[in-house]
Amino acid sequence: MLRVDRSWREDVRRRIPVRYLPQTTPAHLRGTWRQAKPARIEQALAAALRRPTHGWLVAGASTEVPATRSVMRTVAGREVALWRDADGSLLAGPGACPHLGARLHDCDVVDGTVLCRWHGMPLGRDTDPPWNTYAAHDDGVLVWVRLGPVEEGADPTDRPVLAMRPRPEGSIASVISLAATCEPRDIMANRLDPWHGAWLHPYAFSDLRVDDDASSDDRLVLDVAYRLGRTFAVPVRAEFTCPDSHTIVMTITDGEGVGSVVETHATPLTAPGAHPARTVMTEAVVATSDRGGFAVARRMARLVRVGMRASATQLWADDLEYAARRYEMRRRDAGTLEG
Ligand code: FES
Ligand SMILES: [Fe+2]
Repeated sequence: MLRVDRSWREDVRRRIPVRYLPQTTPAHLRGTWRQAKPARIEQALAAALRRPTHGWLVAGASTEVPATRSVMRTVAGREVALWRDADGSLLAGPGACPHLGARLHDCDVVDGTVLCRWHGMPLGRDTDPPWNTYAAHDDGVLVWVRLGPVEEGADPTDRPVLAMRPRPEGSIASVISLAATCEPRDIMANRLDPWHGAWLHPYAFSDLRVDDDASSDDRLVLDVAYRLGRTFAVPVRAEFTCPDSHTIVMTITDGEGVGSVVETHATPLTAPGAHPARTVMTEAVVATSDRGGFAVARRMARLVRVGMRASATQLWADDLEYAARRYEMRRRDAGTLEG
């Protein structure tokens, strides 16, 4: 009887993921500062920073590079032109035209060749000079260029290190990019401190508990409730891993949307060692669900993406302030040491 009762309850919980979880007021919310040990965050950050990128950095969303126009980005202090070959694959080269230095942004692209806007110089894979001098990769959601330094002991690779994502035909992807005055490590450190979740983003998260037994320096496992207003929330279990030193991935492992991922990529805008440093945070949310309603959501993907981007932007307004403050404090400490 007990078993029947329990399985019935589990079935209901599976069907209806929303829980009655009234939001705690700040006066009653327990501080997490004892758990958010600076040494533990630094240790997890150090482990993440040891993972090589093999020179690959995210340069934006796949949708930002159209079929017949070039776009320009700044990556690690260098201007990069991105465009598409005739077969749709991604090509990348320096952002200044070799003739008189025009910005290779918003130029016509014909059969995979960029036509410079100033005097029409053709620049592409087969032109003279050849102009696809940077390795580039489109993973279907994000575009990457191999422009960063290749770490000691690592080799340049043909592809970036890619995290596991849900199948494109069963998911909805949305991407936001925001810049801040900080270094990539500050964006990583923010994500490696999950304990700030319910405090810094009370409108989005509550009931956050890091599972210390399941976590290690390479993997943070936690239970958290996504807030749907003040009264209801959707509890999930999630884990954070770092495929490379500039990427942190959150994967939902239990609860609503199992397999959904949030990839956060930190791309330096400024050259290595330049200060003040600027970094672009690019976040790709790839959501999936086995619920019937998700098929309907997929049909309204454009509208759903607007909501996904709005909530990610709200979260990152807080998180980039955290990252920038971390950078500012480190610079201040360094100044004190130098002084
Ligand atoms: S500057 Fe590009 S063709 Fe002249
Ligand atoms: Fe956050």
